[in-house]
Amino acid sequence: MIALTRDVPPSIVECELTHRSRCPIDVDRAIAQHESYQATLASLGCTILRLPAAPHLPDSVFVEDTAVVLPDIAIITRPGAESRRPETASMAEALSAYRPLAFVEAPGTLDGGDVLRIGSRLFVGRSLRSNTEGIRQLAALVAPHYFDIITVDLTGCLHLKSAVTQVGDDTLLINRAWVDASPFDGMALIDVEADESGAANALLVGETVVFPAAYPRTRLLLEEYGFDVRIVEADELEKAEAGVTCCSVLVTQA
Ligand code: GLY
Repeated sequence: MIALTRDVPPSIVECELTHRSRCPIDVDRAIAQHESYQATLASLGCTILRLPAAPHLPDSVFVEDTAVVLPDIAIITRPGAESRRPETASMAEALSAYRPLAFVEAPGTLDGGDVLRIGSRLFVGRSLRSNTEGIRQLAALVAPHYFDIITVDLTGCLHLKSAVTQVGDDTLLINRAWVDASPFDGMALIDVEADESGAANALLVGETVVFPAAYPRTRLLLEEYGFDVRIVEADELEKAEAGVTCCSVLVTQA
């Protein structure tokens, strides 16, 4: 498994914010947390491949939003925030070594953080970043690869994966205050603890759940369910309205 990442730029202090208020970001601390995150992925068997640094693109560390990687194709997105659109070119170049590429075109917009893959289904958040046209284009691009699209509406959070992520084969971690659970009928749902609204963003690497240290009660819950949980410090990056899925794009190799 390859994990595509990109260094934290000093300009992260000017990142896009939608549902969070701006507060000072300690760039050195954010860099240290990001290094530790990459070390965690490496310890779980990922080969880290860093995209070229993009110092003047404030959100460029959040590579997840620039691509959706499936077994036979990679979709290069058109991020909903205009400031983020220059991030996609280097992701396309890197991914072209591993997958045929397809592209979301204007007026469509799509952020990878809105796309949750469960088997052959892609749940896609219709959000302030991903519009109906972007979702329509994604559906057309993935249909030949036997993926179905289920559109999911959100309230109060940036991306679908702020509200729900996969933590096991058939198990999702969810914050129902931000997303309606009915599209996920038939799957086991674990609710985040009431005072840990940001805890639904977890990153599944193999059978290990990479999870932010800031949410100890939900972590305990996951451990009680028997999940293998690996903790990372990510609170400085979270000030940029980001979670643990945002900082990597995972690419499986045959
Ligand atoms: N700061 C993360 C984003 O808004 O895309």
